[in-house]
Amino acid sequence: MKLEGKVAIVTGACGGIGQAIVNTFVASGARVVAADLDGAQAAGLAAEYDGQVLGVAVDVTDYAAVEAMLETAVTHFGTLDVVINNAGIGMPKMLLDHDPVADWDLVTQVNQKGVYHGILAAGRQFRALGKPGVILNTSSVYGQMASEMSFTYNVSKAAVDMMTKCAALELAPHGIRVVAVAPGRVDTPLLRQYEALGLWEHIRREQMRDQFTQPAEIAAVFAFLASDEASCLNGSTVDAEDGFVSFKYPLLSQQG
Ligand SMILES: NC(=O)c1ccc[n+]([C@@H]2O[C@H](COP(=O)([O-])OP(=O)(O)OC[C@H]3O[C@@H](n4cnc5c(N)ncnc54)[C@H](O)[C@@H]3O)[C@@H](O)[C@H]2O)c1
Repeated sequence: MKLEGKVAIVTGACGGIGQAIVNTFVASGARVVAADLDGAQAAGLAAEYDGQVLGVAVDVTDYAAVEAMLETAVTHFGTLDVVINNAGIGMPKMLLDHDPVADWDLVTQVNQKGVYHGILAAGRQFRALGKPGVILNTSSVYGQMASEMSFTYNVSKAAVDMMTKCAALELAPHGIRVVAVAPGRVDTPLLRQYEALGLWEHIRREQMRDQFTQPAEIAAVFAFLASDEASCLNGSTVDAEDGFVSFKYPLLSQQG
């Protein structure tokens, strides 16, 4: 199994993509710290596994809490190999309807500062352990492209892409790789907000396969990137978006 013996931390572990990462990593031989805002929910997720998963509460906007999460992982499992900064939020709203505090600060704190906290604390932890490590960040195709109703989200994901590059450069001398994954549209509670807006079918038809990406497909990309097989990937953002950034909406194939 490609992650045999590795210990990984996943934030946002109780969400759609996070749960799939926990599942795929355990199936690939890893032991996992599943971290989320709600500690009870994280503990409930961990209870589904036979000791391979530890559930912990973390608020990624709090640097001390992120450091404590890493300490807990090392204390509980004895080491640490992979840190996945996956927690993220989005609240679809047109720019001119923004409340500058509610619609900028919260998303930026979680998606941008939260990932910064994870990179910084993980880099320090790997250096203290004196071993190589892998830091993976969940970006989005919206880090590279404009879209309506997601102004702050897109800016935060562009920041994730740049943090990934800068951290990869500074951490490479310590044997640490830093890579991001940019999913397109994945069927999770985050994306389901578009259902309430009446846009679900529209955004489904924009997908090349005419269907949403499933969380397990994204988790498989994370598992590869966390493995030793991905040794030549560093500083990149890997698109996992079913062609969404490469092609225009295929008008002709949607006729009839
Ligand atoms: N679903 C998509 O289409 C899509 C596409 C591109 C990128 N992403 C990214 O994937 C990641 C996971 O999203 P998802 O779709 O699984 O969403 P989700 O809403 O299903 O899960 C997000 C999880 O993050 C947790 N969380 C929120 N704030 C937190 C905080 N401050 N500290 C710790 N945990 C916190 C939530 O409790 C939740 O469990 C996010 O970074 C998101 O931006 C999702």
